[in-house]
Amino acid sequence: MREKLPVLEKEAREALARAADAGALEAFRIAYLGKKGLITALMKGLGAVAPEERPLLGKLANELKQRITQAYEEKREAIAASAGGSERFVDVTLPGREPPCGHYHPISLVVEEVCQIFARMGYRVVKGPNVELDYYNFEALNIPRDHPARDMQDTFYVTDNVVLRTHTSPMQVRVMESQAPPVSVIAPGKVYRRDSDVTHTPMFHQVEGLLVDRDVTFGDLKGTLTTFVHQMFGSGTGLRFRPSFFPFTEPSAEVDIRCVICGGAGCRTCSQTGWLEILGSGMVDPNVYGFVGYDPEVYSGFAFGMGIERIAMLKYGIDDIQLFFRNDTRFLRQF
Ligand code: PHE
Repeated sequence: MREKLPVLEKEAREALARAADAGALEAFRIAYLGKKGLITALMKGLGAVAPEERPLLGKLANELKQRITQAYEEKREAIAASAGGSERFVDVTLPGREPPCGHYHPISLVVEEVCQIFARMGYRVVKGPNVELDYYNFEALNIPRDHPARDMQDTFYVTDNVVLRTHTSPMQVRVMESQAPPVSVIAPGKVYRRDSDVTHTPMFHQVEGLLVDRDVTFGDLKGTLTTFVHQMFGSGTGLRFRPSFFPFTEPSAEVDIRCVICGGAGCRTCSQTGWLEILGSGMVDPNVYGFVGYDPEVYSGFAFGMGIERIAMLKYGIDDIQLFFRNDTRFLRQF
């Protein structure tokens, strides 16, 4: 066996020298170094030699295998390097890879869309403080001292007369206080209530609208909100005005749209009614004009307020409000 080693090495080196490309080199590897290759067979044959010769022969065979493996590696690198020109071919016509890029949150998108619809109708976008005086949040909106919304259970109090605003309606008072009619504003922003479950979060978003001028009627309110619903949910969307109550509007109405899930047939989302409530509205209560110094005999107007999360859930068919705040990119990426 010992004599066979130099012969095998010589053969292997000659075969390696002949291998001129990647294909021939691979054939060489299989023939000599592969599982059934000659050098592998040599190593296996060691079991059959006499025990006293085994250590020395084993060592020699191992060294031979290392030398051939190294020579093979060198040859492989040489072939790869010389073939480099064609293997590293770059197709400059391939489209580039776009780097990942952020985008607006679905809530921001809906706020933007609502504001744009009203901006096109001539409304001006205004913003105000999240930390609000009791006066603007409740008192000047004709919300009585004993109204449940004023309860500690429902409102976050900062001090006795400072709250986290529970709605965007205080912006009605702030705007009217700062300018004479005509007024047409839209006020988006965050609001806060002590509430948390699948349909409520302690912070959510509203958009408030206010229009005051001479001779504004309930018909103007209906026309404006009908236009809004048709632009937001599609021109075929059915809607209805349902009598309601707010301390700062009289008369008041809530607006329902035809259920976007079942089309009005009745399902879980609309509690089998076929309708979904999307906003509160009404003619500004004369008592509110008293707080801002407008003459209710001369001016009239309407106000409305809507929850953005609710609109977004209906528009996109989302059933859990918490999804908006979990910041799971698998959810957010879809918008
Ligand atoms: N502020 C009311 C709410 O949060 C909505 C509303 C706004 C109702 C304006 C009437 C007029 O429920």
